[in-house]
Parts: sequence; C-alpha cells; structure tokens
Amino acid sequence: MHDIGYAPDLAVIGFHPLDGARYLNEEGAPRRVVDLVAFHSSAWVEAQEFGVADELAEFHDERTLTRDLLWYCDMTTGPDGTDFEFEDRMTEVRERYGPDHYVTRALDVGMDERRAAVGRSREWLTSVGLADQV
Ligand SMILES: [Fe+2]
Repeated sequence: MHDIGYAPDLAVIGFHPLDGARYLNEEGAPRRVVDLVAFHSSAWVEAQEFGVADELAEFHDERTLTRDLLWYCDMTTGPDGTDFEFEDRMTEVRERYGPDHYVTRALDVGMDERRAAVGRSREWLTSVGLADQV
C-alpha cells in the first residue's frame, strides 16, 4: 500500500509518496499509516529533488523499527515482487529511471539512510529468527 500514490486516479501532483499519503488521509486511514506512506524509502530526499519538500512536511517521519522494516521490504523487492539484495535493488532503480530522473538524482543523497534502515532491519530480523524468511 505504500505505493498507492502511483495509481493514476490518485496522482494529483505526480509525487507518489505525497499523493498516496494525502489520499489515505482523506479516506480516513490511521495517521501513522499516512505518515509511513509519506516518508517511505527516503521520500524526503526525493521530495527535495521534486520540489515538494514543504508539502511533505505536512507529515511525520517516525524513524522507528516499523518504518525501517517498510523501507527494507521496499528496497529488497522489485516492482514485480522479485527478491533483491539491497545493492542490486538500488541498481535496478537507477537503471529503470535513468540518470536524469529525480528519483535517480535523489538515490545517492539518501543512500546512507536507506542502507542504515536496511541494516537495522536485518539486525532485528536476525535477532528474532526471521532473517531467512524475508
Ligand atoms: Fe515508492
């Protein structure tokens, strides 16, 4: 659901984290879910590149394990559901969008934060014995 803003009928400004969060907010989704959608996978960096950072500030990045796990799932799964290692997924994103797209430009800026979230998620998944299942 974090990518619901890609749905053509919901795209208002064309920045899917914000379009998705605003739609869910209007539909009465829990505020925590709305915020997680707004800030998924370094969306704040992409928002700066896209020119909507002020609008994204309507929402809150909770910076919790739940947030990290959402990012982990997003950054280790391809668009068709294929499992990826983190670095391979970043390569896939870069190649899919091309060098001039705002997503690609934002990728390197937010890479440390993305990598850290994936690392924290892996540590937690290992600590609870789930590392081999996701
Ligand atoms: Fe997304």
